[in-house]
Amino acid sequence: MSTPLRTLRYGRALLRLERCASTNDEARAWALAGAPDGATVISAEQTAGRGRAGRGWHSPNSGGLYLSIIARPPLPVSKTLGLSFAAAVAAAEALAPLLPAPPTLKWPNDVFFGDQKLGGILCELSATGERCDFVVIGIGLNLNNDTFPGPLRELATSVALASGRRCDEAEVAAALLSGLEEEVDLLVAAGFEPIRARWRARSYTLGRRVSFLHEGTRRTGTARDLEPDGALLVELDDGAQLRVIAGDVAVLQER
Ligand code: BTN
Repeated sequence: MSTPLRTLRYGRALLRLERCASTNDEARAWALAGAPDGATVISAEQTAGRGRAGRGWHSPNSGGLYLSIIARPPLPVSKTLGLSFAAAVAAAEALAPLLPAPPTLKWPNDVFFGDQKLGGILCELSATGERCDFVVIGIGLNLNNDTFPGPLRELATSVALASGRRCDEAEVAAALLSGLEEEVDLLVAAGFEPIRARWRARSYTLGRRVSFLHEGTRRTGTARDLEPDGALLVELDDGAQLRVIAGDVAVLQER
């Protein structure tokens, strides 16, 4: 990496690829072979980039940053969900100085600029019982893309499109790795609360009308809070409260 890394572990062991199917798959294989905490895989292009909920991740050469970090935090499985929020906060903080307005976070861990997606996180856990062996934290950021195919044209944006300026992928990667190491260390030392506070401060979702599937039925309400366990607390139109713990919520374009 051309920019100096200000980390102790993250990105110190680095595998840089021109092309791979998915950096998360490469990282998992490396973790199983014994890669240390913080080992990182970056690829210039992914041919089968993966997103949440079985979706793909648009991963053209030159445009996006695709990286996966192997985290081996001393956390029980039940606390590892905090890693995906830590990654979202670190991604937003790394991108903030490059954008004309602050990026925001859509529950649970999408990075947004305005009403469009700038980046996403895919965390994949490997555990033995309650013990976390490792988590692959996969992060995809749209940096210098000047166009997106099909429906993504409406839904996605990039730093270049948002700011009118190209950015240096290596610098963003270095800032991201530094921020992520800090956030994960904070999660381990102090629990989820400080990350929860930072997520809330950057939230795109809280206070907005949302729609989501709950036990097969579409529900609508107002997102009220991020709960201490990462669930989204939604107040339904009849005043009842529901905790959304998985899946996606759609933010409705009204206040
Ligand atoms: C999402 O928002 O659906 C999550 C997208 C995660 C994409 C990144 S790109 C690097 C890493 N490798 C993958 O195959 N996926 C993640």
